[in-house]
Amino acid sequence: MRSQDRILVTGASGQLGVYLVGELVGRGMEPKIWSGKQKGRIKGLELEAVGLEDEGLVRSRLSEIQPTVIIHAGAMSGAEDVRRDPVAGAEVNINGTRTIAEWSNEHGARLVYTSTDLVFDGTKSMWSETDEPGPLLEYGRTKAEGERYVRRVGCGLVARISLLYGPTLTGRPSFFTNVLEGLRGGEPQVLFTDEWRTPLDYQTAAEVLCDLAMDRQKCVGVIHVGGMERMSRYELLLRSAQGLGLERGLVRGGLASSQSLPEPRPRDVSLSTEKLREILPERRLRTVEEVVGGM
Ligand SMILES: NC(=O)c1ccc[n+]([C@@H]2O[C@H](COP(=O)([O-])OP(=O)(O)OC[C@H]3O[C@@H](n4cnc5c(N)ncnc54)[C@H](OP(=O)(O)O)[C@@H]3O)[C@@H](O)[C@H]2O)c1
Repeated sequence: MRSQDRILVTGASGQLGVYLVGELVGRGMEPKIWSGKQKGRIKGLELEAVGLEDEGLVRSRLSEIQPTVIIHAGAMSGAEDVRRDPVAGAEVNINGTRTIAEWSNEHGARLVYTSTDLVFDGTKSMWSETDEPGPLLEYGRTKAEGERYVRRVGCGLVARISLLYGPTLTGRPSFFTNVLEGLRGGEPQVLFTDEWRTPLDYQTAAEVLCDLAMDRQKCVGVIHVGGMERMSRYELLLRSAQGLGLERGLVRGGLASSQSLPEPRPRDVSLSTEKLREILPERRLRTVEEVVGGM
């Protein structure tokens, strides 16, 4: 980003968003920050509630702010929420993204859209940017639809992100912190051994997304933003428990394939990060042990 850039972060009150704001502020930026409903301040900046489903409001606020760089992390991000209310999921994740993408194209803004590994159908490993999405979950479908609008933006980048983990800075628990809390309380936790991701910590994700937002020339289209290692949630939590000195025996394996789940789930959405490592060779991805070492 250049000093004259006006930056906007959507979804700034979310698990990833708070890290993004911290990273930008740490780099000397003063982004405008949006939530869906939450009010308050993050790193001294005022959160503005701008519902992405309200096209008129989104357009009028964008025209007032005139951002030159947008990191679009606002979303209905819970797969179960989108399954239960696919209409709302589409309004936020598809229509909201379309509004931001169209405005960005009209005004030449750099747009970085946080998509997901869950756009893939899970039938192979280490998906690359040229592989075709084929979402199984409704959530993944809405995010894949959002991608189509971002790909039409001259300065647009779809950043498909793997499962995120790490400490929460929002004051609200996440899946990861809930499991650790359970372990701390001596409760066994069952985690799937037959679903694979390339988990990435929030801090590294925020650093990478800010680097990519800054990089106007090199990177448009699609990029995969994942961690170094392919693993199951079971392995992620086992290694985290070990790193934190928690009782490993409480981390139990379970099979997603033996459960009756409301939607079919992709088995393997691990992402290849070859392109990322070419574009940002100096950016080192952290191991699970390094991430939990700081908790
Ligand atoms: N977490 C992961 O493992 C993961 C993996 C891959 C991709 N992603 C993507 O990364 C992004 C951030 O995820 P996250 O885990 O940080 O999600 P999160 O914690 O659920 O945060 C979602 C953010 O979006 C905002 N939002 C929700 N509904 C909105 C609406 N109708 N209008 C405007 N804003 C709305 C929320 O605002 P309020 O606080 O006001 O509700 C919040 O700031 C999402 O695009 C998600 O799809 C996440």
